Amino acid sequence: MLNSYIINQLKQYQTPFYFYDTDLLHKTLFAIKEAASLFSFKLHFAIKANANKNILSIINDYNIGADCVSGNEIKRALNAGFPAHNIVFAGVGKTDEEIKFAIESDIFCINCESLEELEVINSLAGLLNKKPRTALRINPNVDAETHRNITTGLNSNKFGISVDDLQYIVDHFLEYNNLLIDGLHFHIGSQITNLNVFKNLCYVVNAIQKKLKRKNILINHLNLGGGLGINYENPENRIPDFQAYFSIFHKYLNLLPEQTVHFEPGRSIVGQSGMLLTRILYVKSHGSKKTIILDAGFTELLRPALYQANHKIINLTSQGNLENYDIAGPICETSDYFGKSITLPQSKRGDLIAILSAGAYGESMASSYNLRSSVRKYFLNTLAEEQREKILTKL
Ligand code: LLP
Repeated sequence: MLNSYIINQLKQYQTPFYFYDTDLLHKTLFAIKEAASLFSFKLHFAIKANANKNILSIINDYNIGADCVSGNEIKRALNAGFPAHNIVFAGVGKTDEEIKFAIESDIFCINCESLEELEVINSLAGLLNKKPRTALRINPNVDAETHRNITTGLNSNKFGISVDDLQYIVDHFLEYNNLLIDGLHFHIGSQITNLNVFKNLCYVVNAIQKKLKRKNILINHLNLGGGLGINYENPENRIPDFQAYFSIFHKYLNLLPEQTVHFEPGRSIVGQSGMLLTRILYVKSHGSKKTIILDAGFTELLRPALYQANHKIINLTSQGNLENYDIAGPICETSDYFGKSITLPQSKRGDLIAILSAGAYGESMASSYNLRSSVRKYFLNTLAEEQREKILTKL
């Protein structure tokens, strides 16, 4: 995608900036919609991965709902045109104002994360004279085999209702009479690359459903969250294998008749469509070690500093001999590195560098620490309007 014409265009912009390939985004959306529709699965894009308004408006064209974790995300989704009846709302610490806003907006479902929260939603719904649809987010204690900071489904994590509290809710089910307890929700973590993990999740979901059925509690929908990983090492494999992912759930989930199945993908939809463009400010030497200082830091892309994530880094403007570099940002923090001992063609001040696979949790996690300016964004868009129409009508 980065041919010399595009690189010459990119050189004209002030760095750092995000650069989104919306053609790839369209292709990825087409692939996930096609795979999900094989099994009649429903999708809600996890807005936390990328809340950029242009990106959201493209995603909304594919008739995918939104997964939100704050009142402001719900507002952003509604403003981007996502219909309320396709919005779900999770989050371990919803405020009363956010819950009231969600109830009054008539969103599809509030995914409740604790017994206490269930009681709060029940009483706020009573005050508003409404009966919102809710799902119980259960902590299934399934290891997602991913980085510890993005693992959410273990007993030691703060997320979801414990199996003990679920038992209490089951015993007092009829007391939550201002709520329509309609779903079970799970999200065990992010950047999951071992699909067997999802098989393990299905086994736990089946066991819980069996228990509820014995108590005559019938659940209309299951929401399995997000989590499918992308290939950071080889971003050339740009579209995740959505069919393999959904097939696991199709094969291993025991569904009740009429039960619908929902997912909340984030990273797998937008991850490969974005990159961070930055220039080399300085190349420093400490003995034999060379350190590149970029004009982007963890204020623009936090993932390497926070999760030791490896994003592929390429020098777009040098063809020199290969050398080893540590690659750092300008932020006054020791953790502000994008990589250590990275091989690049001989690099110098002014070279344009691309940090790949940054479309998810890049722009959305940017901060103004050190009073940095907010990061710019540009979009590549070469698909002709009529091609786009074709893609959309094929769905
Ligand atoms: N649903 C819920 C309830 C979530 O908490 C998340 C992500 C998702 C869906 C979407 O997961 P995905 O499909 O994107 O894996 N900042 C971290 C990732 C944090 C994910 C938080 N929750 C990163 O950059 O790796």
